Amino acid sequence: MRPLKRIGVLTGGGDCPGLSALVLGIARPAVSHFGATVIGILGGFEGLVEGKMRELPAKEVMGSAISGGAMLGTSDKGDPFHFPIQTQQGIDILDCSEDAVRNCRDWNLDALIAIGGDGTMHIVDKFTDLGLNLIGVPKTIDNDLAGTDASFGHDSAVRIATDAIDRIQTTESVHYTVLVVEVMGRYAGWIALGAGLAGGADAILIPEIPFKWEKVCEHVVRRGKQGSRSSVICVSEGARPAGGEIVEKENEVGSSDPSPRGGIGDLVGRRIAEMTGLDTRVTVLGQLQRGGDPTAFDRILANRFGAKAVELASQEQSGHMVSLRGTEVVAVPVREATQKIRTVPLDSQLVFAARAVGTCFGE
Ligand code: F6P
Repeated sequence: MRPLKRIGVLTGGGDCPGLSALVLGIARPAVSHFGATVIGILGGFEGLVEGKMRELPAKEVMGSAISGGAMLGTSDKGDPFHFPIQTQQGIDILDCSEDAVRNCRDWNLDALIAIGGDGTMHIVDKFTDLGLNLIGVPKTIDNDLAGTDASFGHDSAVRIATDAIDRIQTTESVHYTVLVVEVMGRYAGWIALGAGLAGGADAILIPEIPFKWEKVCEHVVRRGKQGSRSSVICVSEGARPAGGEIVEKENEVGSSDPSPRGGIGDLVGRRIAEMTGLDTRVTVLGQLQRGGDPTAFDRILANRFGAKAVELASQEQSGHMVSLRGTEVVAVPVREATQKIRTVPLDSQLVFAARAVGTCFGE
């Protein structure tokens, strides 16, 4: 074991509920177990390239209350290997990884712990080839990171989406109404499946199971005839009709996220209204899923991931990511997390359970 004197922490990618709890889950064992000084890198890898860092005093680390918010700020726009630099001609994309390595050296960091999703883990992988003692910690509301059964933030996002479905079902209308709720998740349907099942959605549309318009319409029409007051359709932003395309938004310059999504909820609402004549309402949860307090599950995960990440850093297990396997927190090579994304398997028990209670997947 190497004595950890100075340890850096950064948060990459999109935000999620209670990201500060995860930063503290890493910082607290670093301070209390190793007596280390924790350096917070502000604004993800962008801050590492630009040298935006500050010491987190032990008093702040040990004294903070766990709440929502991202105390270090997070960004998915600062990939050091493809870094956007503003020039007079426009934006040039340059390799600024040497700046990041130099800043780690200038700040005397013995180790760096990077919190994030697949984009962050790709960067961790590249930096370990450059000799940094770098450990990954999985965080994404989408839960689409391979190499771990759960990522920090997902459970909290599912709770928020479930709460929205619960609330929407208690809205009153004199007519039978179809209520469409669009949730995030990119190419993976975990949030829609989890929240849809927990909230008792009547239909769940996910990217892994392309849906047929007629099947979804038949389902909601039948429910209306049977006397239901409303039907809830929980649709994942990456869902698409069979033979159709994913609805995409334009990518932003400098973003490491290849293709942000959104818009399918409106399309589902419009098509159902056109095809059935039913009163239809659409709610897009958007950023709501990425803020607020973390659930107890995520708070506990923050502490378990944090303790393990600091241990791995002290053992110089560079290039590894902490991971939940079943009920155990273990270390996996970060490459396991970057080779593919973790989507919902068609034989998933969650899909099986949802089908068992009559949920329509539009097949
Ligand atoms: O990866 C997390 C996530 O919230 C996705 O679910 C979503 O597609 C994306 O980020 C949205 O990112 P942004 O807020 O930058 O558009």
